[in-house]
Amino acid sequence: MGVPAGATRAGPRTWRAGIVAWPIPAPAPIDPVAKFLRHLFVCTNERAPGDARGSCSARGSLEVAAALKEKVHACGLKRIVRVNKAGCLDQCAKGVTLVVYPEAVWYGGVTTADVDELVERHLVRGERVTRLEIPDNEQTGKEPPPGGPVVTKERLEP
Ligand code: FES
Repeated sequence: MGVPAGATRAGPRTWRAGIVAWPIPAPAPIDPVAKFLRHLFVCTNERAPGDARGSCSARGSLEVAAALKEKVHACGLKRIVRVNKAGCLDQCAKGVTLVVYPEAVWYGGVTTADVDELVERHLVRGERVTRLEIPDNEQTGKEPPPGGPVVTKERLEP
């Protein structure tokens, strides 16, 4: 009988019920570098021309997302930071909007002229770009539904 794929050479073990099983090797340690350390979600939502809410797409969000991706790669952050296009982030009046996780920092009114500063300061040096930040108390979507759970940043943080 050969050694099954994935089993160690320690040999089979016979359990009380007579079941013979090969020991399962311990999982390989997780390489933290294999995970993205930060995600940027850039709203690229489009609305019909004339819609009173406007849209980030109409304000140039596709160009912002492309410039962010290019800058992230130029700074050597490919596979460390991921720039994703997102649908509406519910901050339409403040577009172009984006959010950076895991810090949950929201930026608004972003243009391609802000991209270098955002990447170099927030993503490389870990500083917030406060002039573009949407303050927590100005964000929409903060009110819980009637009778629903109250979720705050503090409750999400360990
Ligand atoms: S359209 Fe961009 S946040 Fe709503």
